[in-house]
Amino acid sequence: MIKKLNKIGVLTSGGDAPGMNAAIRAVVRTAVYNHLEVIGIKSGYDGLIRNEFIKLKNYSVSDIIQKGGTIIKSARCEEFKTAEGMQQAYSNLKNEGIDSIVVIGGDGTFSGANEFDRIYDFPIVGLPGTIDNDLFGTDFTIGYDTALNTVVEAIDKIRDTAYSHNRLFFIEVMGRDAGFIALRSGIAGGAEDILIPETKTHIEDLIHKLEYDWRHNKKSGIVIVAEGDDAGGAYEIARRVNEKFTNYKTRVTILGHVQRGGSPSCMDRVLASTLGYESVKALINGKRSVMVGQVNKKIAFTPFAEAIKHHQKIDENMLEMARILAL
Ligand code: F6P
Repeated sequence: MIKKLNKIGVLTSGGDAPGMNAAIRAVVRTAVYNHLEVIGIKSGYDGLIRNEFIKLKNYSVSDIIQKGGTIIKSARCEEFKTAEGMQQAYSNLKNEGIDSIVVIGGDGTFSGANEFDRIYDFPIVGLPGTIDNDLFGTDFTIGYDTALNTVVEAIDKIRDTAYSHNRLFFIEVMGRDAGFIALRSGIAGGAEDILIPETKTHIEDLIHKLEYDWRHNKKSGIVIVAEGDDAGGAYEIARRVNEKFTNYKTRVTILGHVQRGGSPSCMDRVLASTLGYESVKALINGKRSVMVGQVNKKIAFTPFAEAIKHHQKIDENMLEMARILAL
């Protein structure tokens, strides 16, 4: 039998992502429409353990759909991995009368939620909120599109100065374990090469490509490096290239956390609104321990256990295409 819900909690956890606020807004408004109370849990699982709760009304989420970051803050929480931390979280939830939660984050967030439901029999659904787009069970994660637009704008600007000074730039983008930001932004920015953790990087191949470019009169260029690339970060790769091939004057730019902020794109706002809305409907209909994503434009529910076990796969055809188009 499906238990009737009265009060749902919402939290954002892990690295923040543009569109998290739009998702919070959608959760709150859908819950209010369905006569549910909503509690915002501050700073992810940290706030759950420390009892940092705030009531959220429909008007509490006015004027946030366009804002980056997360109004209820985010954190990575080691304590929630401990039995004591989980016990404290559970007793805080019981005292507050919260009977289900929507968690917005990445696979670390879903691991915690999955374990918590297993131990305490507590309904939780998840929304994919990360700029990395590395989650299994959704074509796109909330924040990815905005981060891509930020990166592409930066590449375009860097290309202007690269051209003017005949320089080769190594631009490092986020993606500790995944190359999705690098791959798409590299294609959109017309990068000469794209180096990602999912495929082995051979510095000699990169040097051959750069030599070819040089011989064919390319006097400037851009190489996109995902921060988790197996050959090292952008500084290390630039150093290794410079050791053997000195025709280009090189520079390195690390884009860093600028990729995590900013007003969410239209795509991210619509995705976050849709998934936020669907997450509350899912809880009302008795779904639990699933991530709510979108696959081929349709809502898809992926058990946390699956979402954690698998990763979204890089489309290697896109990488090949990028290299051909960069001739
Ligand atoms: O999970 C998103 C992400 O942006 C990764 O790509 C990056 O490596 C990491 O977060 C950085 O995290 P922090 O903000 O803790 O430095």
